[in-house]
This record gives sequence, C-alpha cells and structure tokens, in this order.
Amino acid sequence: MTLTIRPALATDVDGLSALAALTFPLACPPDLPRASVEAFVRDSLGPTSFRGYLEDPTHRLLAGVGPDGDVLAYALLIEGTAMDESCARVISSRPTVGVSKFYLHPCLHGSGEAGRLLDVVIRLAQDSGARSLWLATNVANSRALAFYARSGFERRGHRDFMVGGVRNLDVVLERPVQRPL
Ligand SMILES: CC(C)(COP(=O)(O)OP(=O)(O)OC[C@H]1O[C@@H](n2cnc3c(N)ncnc32)[C@H](O)[C@@H]1OP(=O)(O)O)[C@@H](O)C(=O)NCCC(=O)NCCS
Repeated sequence: MTLTIRPALATDVDGLSALAALTFPLACPPDLPRASVEAFVRDSLGPTSFRGYLEDPTHRLLAGVGPDGDVLAYALLIEGTAMDESCARVISSRPTVGVSKFYLHPCLHGSGEAGRLLDVVIRLAQDSGARSLWLATNVANSRALAFYARSGFERRGHRDFMVGGVRNLDVVLERPVQRPL
C-alpha cells in the first residue's frame, strides 16, 4: 500500500488520535505501567491535543492516508528545540527542526512507507531553511533506533521523558538535512 502523505486537516483529528492511541504503546518500554501509558495517551494524544498541534504556527502535522481515507501514519514537527529545551545543548546544527512524533500503523511496518514519510519530513525541513532534524526515542525502542540509524541519524546524547508520571530514558538523535549546493 502506498500512502498519500499530506498536511493534516481538521477532519483528520479523530483518525490521528485513534492512530496515536494504537501506536504510542509500541514506542514504550515493555515494563512501563499500562496506567502511565494510558494517562499520556489521554493527556497528550486526544483530539483536543491534535487540534492544538494543528493550530500552532510553530508545528507542522503530516498525515499519511491509505486508499480508503484512513489515517495510517503521522508525523509532528516542531521548530527549533522547543519540544524539549533540555536537549538544546546536544544539537549541533541550527536552524533545527524537532520530530516530536513519527508513527506508522503496524500494518505498514517494514513496508518502506516510513522511509517515504521521512523523505517528506526532510523536504519540509530543508524548505524551511533548517540544517538538521532531531528527535528522541526510548533506549529500548530497538526497531525505531535501527530505522533512524539507517536513515542517517546519529546519537547525540540522552534525555529524560516523563510518561504518565514515570521517568523514561530516551536516546537523542540528529541528522543533517542541508540542501546540497
Ligand atoms: C519506528 C518506525 C517508524 C520504523 O518504521 P519501519 O517500517 O518499522 O522501519 P523498517 O522496517 O524500515 O526498519 C526497521 C529496522 O529495525 C529492524 N527491526 C525490526 N524489528 C526489530 C526489533 N524487534 N528489534 C530490533 N530491530 C528490529 C529491521 O530489521 C530494520 O533494520 P534495518 O534497517 O537494519 O534492516 C515504525 O516501526 C513505527 O511506527 N513504530 C511504532 C512507533 C514508534 O516507535 N515510533 C518512533 C517513535 S520516535
């Protein structure tokens, strides 16, 4: 299946939050209490949160839509290091864009669509004049870490990330995106 990748619309909000609730647990370490994961989903990934992401001019929300119109992937970009200023000290190239969220429905894992979504993210960052992309993912999220390493991200350090009141350790990664001259 090939996704149509486009800016998210207000009408995508319910689909985005349903996909986020399904996929966020996949990025969490297996020993994280279910109640903490559910609290994060409720507080940060509901329709109201997605409406806020859509309306914030420093945010760019992309949706990957299947042939039936279902939202099957999404990415949220945030200018600079605003998504976590504690990471600013380890990011080496500026201007930078943070990839706050990058999620695909499990039916698309291993399909190559993650690479296509990342290509769109890279192009958006380049068009905005950024010189790098950065993100953070859990130390135990081996699949994502392998995908990002293959996609040109390098490790820059670690950060703490709170999920439902529980502290988690993330790897911070950065990738150059400067356009060739
Ligand atoms: C992370 C994600 C976007 C990657 O997309 P994908 O289509 O699964 O990625 P790919 O299959 O192209 O690459 C995954 C890599 O992990 C490897 N892999 C697969 N399962 C693995 C596992 N259980 N443990 C370790 N590595 C694994 C694959 O072999 C591949 O490695 P390679 O590039 O060296 O061959 C997608 O899996 C996803 O949405 N996951 C759930 C949400 C998430 O974790 N998002 C990231 C949050 S920052």
